[in-house]
Amino acid sequence: MGEAMIQGLITKHLIDPSKITVCEPRTERREQLKQQHKVRVTSDNRDAKDSSIIVLSVKPQDLNKVLSELKGLKPNQLVISIVAGARIKTINDALTHSAVVRVMPNTPAQIGEGISVWTATPSVNKEQLGHVKTILQALGNEVQVEEEKYLDMATAVSGTGPSYVFLVMEAMIDAAVHLGFARHVAYQLVTETMRGSILYAMKSSKHPAELRNMVTSPGGTSAAALYQLEKGNLRTVISRAIFAAYERSKALGETDSH
Ligand SMILES: NC(=O)c1ccc[n+]([C@@H]2O[C@H](COP(=O)([O-])OP(=O)(O)OC[C@H]3O[C@@H](n4cnc5c(N)ncnc54)[C@H](OP(=O)(O)O)[C@@H]3O)[C@@H](O)[C@H]2O)c1
Repeated sequence: MGEAMIQGLITKHLIDPSKITVCEPRTERREQLKQQHKVRVTSDNRDAKDSSIIVLSVKPQDLNKVLSELKGLKPNQLVISIVAGARIKTINDALTHSAVVRVMPNTPAQIGEGISVWTATPSVNKEQLGHVKTILQALGNEVQVEEEKYLDMATAVSGTGPSYVFLVMEAMIDAAVHLGFARHVAYQLVTETMRGSILYAMKSSKHPAELRNMVTSPGGTSAAALYQLEKGNLRTVISRAIFAAYERSKALGETDSH
C-alpha cells in the first residue's frame, strides 16, 4: 500500500522521488524500492523523523514498535496512518503528537483506483489537509469525514468491499463454467459485465433499481434470475455481511486501544 502511494505520487509528478524516504527493514526489498522508484531508503525509522509528513503503512502488529521509534516529533509535522484498526488516540498517545490523519484505503489503490476515507484531528492545519488530499489522490479518490466513527463504517463498506465483489465475481464465473463456457471466456464475460455495469451506473443519473427495472422485461430472464436472488435473501445476506464487518472493525479497534 505504501509503495502504491509512492508510485502514484511519482507517476503524477507530485513529488520528486529524492524527497521521499522509505523505511524498510528488509535489505532486499529496500534495494528493490530504491532501484525502482529512485527514493531514499533506510532501515532505521528514526531517519524519517525530520520529514514534514510521515506515513505509517506497516501491518497493525508492527505499529507499536514503529511508534516507539518515532517519538519526539515536532508539532508542525503531520502523521498519516493507513494502518487498519489503529485508533487516532492510540497514535496520539504513543507519539505524544496531535497532528494525525487516519485513513481507510482499499486494494484497488494498487492500480490508482482506490477509494480512501479519512479524518483529521483539529491540529492538522489547512495546508496539511491539502497535502493529505494530494497524497490520497495518488491512490484514487478520497472522501474526508468529520468523525473517526465513520472509519469503522468505511472499513465495512469500502475497505473490505473488494472482497465481496471478488466473491460475487468468482460465483458468477463458476456458474458460467457450470453452463459450459471455458473458464477464460467465463472470466471475460463476467469481468466485462461488472466493469460495464458499474461505469454505466456511475455515468447515468438513475437509481440502481431503475436501471435494473429497465432490463427486467415481463416474464423474462432477468425476472427469473432476480426472483431466485431475492428468494436466496441476497440483500439481507449482504446487509448482514457488512454489519458483521463493521462490528469486527469496532471490536479490533477496542482491542488495539487497550
Ligand atoms: N492492503 C489493503 O487493502 C489495505 C486496506 C486498508 C488498510 N491497509 C493497511 O495498510 C497497511 C499496509 O498494508 P500492506 O498490505 O501494504 O502491508 P505490507 O505489504 O506487509 O506492507 C507493510 C510494510 O511495512 C514494512 N515493515 C514491517 N515492519 C516494519 C518496521 N518495523 N519498520 C518499518 N517498516 C516495516 C514491511 O516490510 P517487509 O516487506 O520487509 O515485511 C512492508 O514493506 C496495513 O496497516 C494495513 O492494515 C491495507
